Amino acid sequence: MQTLIINIKELLQVRETSICKVSGSEMAILPTISNAYLLIENDVIAAFGSMENCPKINADKTIDATGKMILPSWCDSHTHIVYVGNREQEFVDRINGLTYEEIANRGGGILNSAKKLNEASEEEIYNQSKKRLEEVIQQGTGAVEIKSGYGLTVDGELKMLRVIKKLASAYPIKIKATFLGAHAFPLDYKENHSGYIDLLINEILPKIAAENLADYIDAFCETGYFSVEETERIMEAGKQHGLRSKIHVNQFTAINGIAACVKHNALSVDHLEIVTDEDIEVLKNTQTMPVALPSCSYFISIPYTPARKMIAAGLPLALASDFNPGTSPSGNMNFVVATACIKMKMTPEEAINAATINGAYAMEISATHGSITVGKKANLIITKPLNSFYELPYSFGTDLIEQVMINGKLVS
Ligand code: NIG
Ligand code: FE
Repeated sequence: MQTLIINIKELLQVRETSICKVSGSEMAILPTISNAYLLIENDVIAAFGSMENCPKINADKTIDATGKMILPSWCDSHTHIVYVGNREQEFVDRINGLTYEEIANRGGGILNSAKKLNEASEEEIYNQSKKRLEEVIQQGTGAVEIKSGYGLTVDGELKMLRVIKKLASAYPIKIKATFLGAHAFPLDYKENHSGYIDLLINEILPKIAAENLADYIDAFCETGYFSVEETERIMEAGKQHGLRSKIHVNQFTAINGIAACVKHNALSVDHLEIVTDEDIEVLKNTQTMPVALPSCSYFISIPYTPARKMIAAGLPLALASDFNPGTSPSGNMNFVVATACIKMKMTPEEAINAATINGAYAMEISATHGSITVGKKANLIITKPLNSFYELPYSFGTDLIEQVMINGKLVS
């Protein structure tokens, strides 16, 4: 099956196969081709270039993209899409003056979602979660990481990971699963941290490994949650089972967690709302991708990741949605990109790089996703007619996506 897309006003993020991430000043460059064609064979990109060189073939399907832009689908490397129910009461409580921390301390927050999840059947969890997945696909996401972490019990965590696995086989987009048992201490273990970590490591992890339920391991390394030492135990145990880490760190406080993550060769360090000069120093010349989650900063009114400072220091940066019921009840990557431009002062070029190729790197899928490259999956966003791609973040409240393509097929 061949699909030929012609007269593309601008084809964005065209890259050589060798590029797996972009860092520092490279982030300001978004390679594009004006008046382009794109040829798709089955599920992959077969060729692209300027319209002058468009092959004269009789493709099975031809799409005329006059006036429109095409870019690779968003690669959302940090979400908690699998959950049950909402937390809108906490949202109103915050409007009335309570902080995220105060709500968590009185049994709300993550524990509130854990209670709902443990009471729900696997089928119910699946049915609620698939709606969110379908929504983000329509919003242009073509690859997504999903975490557990609202179980906090043996059954609950396994139930979540099985739902993620089921979603991965039922939907065409790439899904990576992360075990986040170390999201919060359940009430029963409030005074027995090592007992809970023993449960995660000795009971849950071996089952996850046996059923091949996770690709990565995560922990919420934060004051009042998992200490740096506790996080290191988790990362070490993950490594024993072949799970690289992707860690929630520096959301509210800087406690030298980033250095520990780098020491353990974490794939990514995520959140980074509070970042010190030492944190930036330690990330230089490493394989660890920093990931910013601007919807979370927006929704719970905390600082934004200091993108300018990090990029000036030569670091790469990825953008993800953090879709979850507590701090970012939205998985809309178009909003994430716009908010990164508006609030973090990233240029549209930088933000698009961060949400595509660098997001792919943070899921170890740069070889197949995150850019317009021959041989990569034909996962595309086809926009409505636009003046320029700057309109994507500029018109932040407008849906500018006309069609999305996953593995060479248009999604209706
Ligand atoms: O990434 N910070 C930790 N975890 C989530 C929020 C979890 C929740 O409030 O349900 C986050 O922001
Ligand atoms: Fe998160």
